[in-house]
Amino acid sequence: MKRVAILAMVVTLAAFGIASAAPAGRVTVLCSPNPAWCDAVKAEFPRATGIAFDFVRLSSGEALARLRAERQNPSFDVWFGGTGDPHIVANEEGLTEFVRPDAWNDVRTELREAVSGPRGPMYIPLYAGILGWAINERLLKEKNLPVPRTWRDLADSRYKGLVAYPNPNTSGTGYTLLATLVQVYGETAAFDLMKRIHRNVAEYSRSGAGPGQLTGRGEIAIGITFVHDAVDQVLQGFPITYNAPSDGTGYEIGGLSLVKATPNRAAALAFINWALTPAAQSLAAERGQSYQIPSNSKTAVPRTAPRFQDFKVIKYDFLKFGSQSVRDGLVKKWTEQVFPLPK
Ligand code: G6P
Repeated sequence: MKRVAILAMVVTLAAFGIASAAPAGRVTVLCSPNPAWCDAVKAEFPRATGIAFDFVRLSSGEALARLRAERQNPSFDVWFGGTGDPHIVANEEGLTEFVRPDAWNDVRTELREAVSGPRGPMYIPLYAGILGWAINERLLKEKNLPVPRTWRDLADSRYKGLVAYPNPNTSGTGYTLLATLVQVYGETAAFDLMKRIHRNVAEYSRSGAGPGQLTGRGEIAIGITFVHDAVDQVLQGFPITYNAPSDGTGYEIGGLSLVKATPNRAAALAFINWALTPAAQSLAAERGQSYQIPSNSKTAVPRTAPRFQDFKVIKYDFLKFGSQSVRDGLVKKWTEQVFPLPK
C-alpha cells in the first residue's frame, strides 16, 4: 500500500516537472544549418547539460526576418548556425549581442578576425564553408554539354533550365552568391551576369541545400550551393560531383549569437558554451550531414570537409557585405532587377 502511494507521488511530481530528473531550464533555438544537425543537437544537448531544448529550423534570411518581427517579444534565446551576414545585421540592429564564450581563445584566429569590427566581434564563428557547385555530369554528358569552369560559363544559353541557386531573400547561401559575384566582378558586371544567368535558372530554392538536392535528383545539372552541401549529396549516394569556379569563389563563416532580449540568459549561455566544445561540434559531420570546417581549432576537421587550399577562395569582406545597408540594398536590387525578368 505504502509503496503504491510513494509511486503515485513520484508520478505526480514528475508530471509537474519537479521530480529530481527535471531539466535545469530550457533553451529555445533558431537553428539554421541542415535539419539533421539541429536534430542531433536536440538529442545531445539535454543529455550533456540537463537543459531542455527546442528548435525551429529556418534559413538564414528567414531567421533574420523572424528576429526582426519578434524584436519586442522574442521566442528564441539563441540563433545557431546559418551564414554570417544576417548575424552581423542582427547585431547591428540590436537584435542579438556578442558574448565571449568560454572557448573563445580556441576559435580559429582568422575566423575571429574576419567577423570583428571596430567595436569588437559581431558574432561567434561556428564553422566555415566554401561556396561552389553540385554538378550532375551524367546529365551534362547526355546533353553533350561541357562541365562549366567559371561563373561566366553559367550564363551560356546552352545551360537553359539546367541551373538552380537559392533565393537571397530567404537563403544565406543565395546572399553569399550575390555578394561573391559583386566582389569578383564589381557590382555592375555582377548584376549583368546574374541577369544573364537568370535565363538559365530552373528554380530559385528557398534554402541553401536545395540546389544540391535538385542536382542529386537529376532535375538540374548545376546547383549553386556550399560545397559541403554537395558533399552531403555525394555521401548519400547521389551520382554527382562538386567543384567551385576557377575565377574565384566566396565562403561563409557560420554564426552563433545570443538573442539580446532573451529573459533566459543563463540557459542560453550554457547552450552557447556547449555548442563550441569539440564534442558538440563533432556532431555536425557525425550525425548532422554537415561537413564544414569547425570553428574550434581543437575540433577535428572532418575527413570529408572541403579544404580551403583546394579552391580559389577570395578574400571575402564579411563586415562590408554583412552590413545592413549593403546586404539589404543588394537583396532589394536582385529582387527588383533580376528575379522578375522573363526567362
Ligand atoms: C546549409 C549549410 C550551412 C549554411 C546553411 C545556410 O545548411 O550546410 O553551412 O550555413 O545552409 O542556409 P540557408 O538556407 O540560409 O542558405
